[in-house]
Amino acid sequence: MITRADIVSLFARQGHLAYEGEGITQLQHGWQCGRLACQADAAPALQLAAWLHDLGHLMTGLEGSPTVRGVDDRHEALGSGVLAQLFGADVAAPVALHVAAKRYLVSAQPNYADSLSPDSRRSLALQGGPMSVEERAHFKARRHALDAVRLRLWDDRAKVAEWQPAGDAAALDELALLMDRVAASR
Ligand SMILES: [Fe+2]
Ligand SMILES: [Fe+2]
Repeated sequence: MITRADIVSLFARQGHLAYEGEGITQLQHGWQCGRLACQADAAPALQLAAWLHDLGHLMTGLEGSPTVRGVDDRHEALGSGVLAQLFGADVAAPVALHVAAKRYLVSAQPNYADSLSPDSRRSLALQGGPMSVEERAHFKARRHALDAVRLRLWDDRAKVAEWQPAGDAAALDELALLMDRVAASR
């Protein structure tokens, strides 16, 4: 079973991987998403979900964006499976639903698709495209749907090339502390 320490070392080893060809790294993207959740006063579990929402990309270790090659790596399912064991549903479910939340928002908010990065638009088609009305109703009924939508909107903004942590070690310390805090509160 993957431990909290394994997650930190995964980011230390693989965090340099490019995020979706957007000019930032996976570590930078996770850190920025966690910062945005913190600034929005999200609960610690949701802050951690924001930090780790793309953990599955690191687990597959795919450089750049698989979607360029027409591959959906199902990273949301991979990451949430690990997070469910370590931290429970309040962390795992928003991660599991962050791709569905994009499909929901594209369908529910007419202007949302314009705000997406080129890669997020490309992956949308691979991930099933905009939700139908029935799918939207089903999604909204999920207990963590609102958290997943909040996470998704931070995810979309956490792609700023110039926004850096004080250093990789400092960012990983923040992550380790947050994981300890969420694990202790279960
Ligand atoms: Fe993602
Ligand atoms: Fe992301």
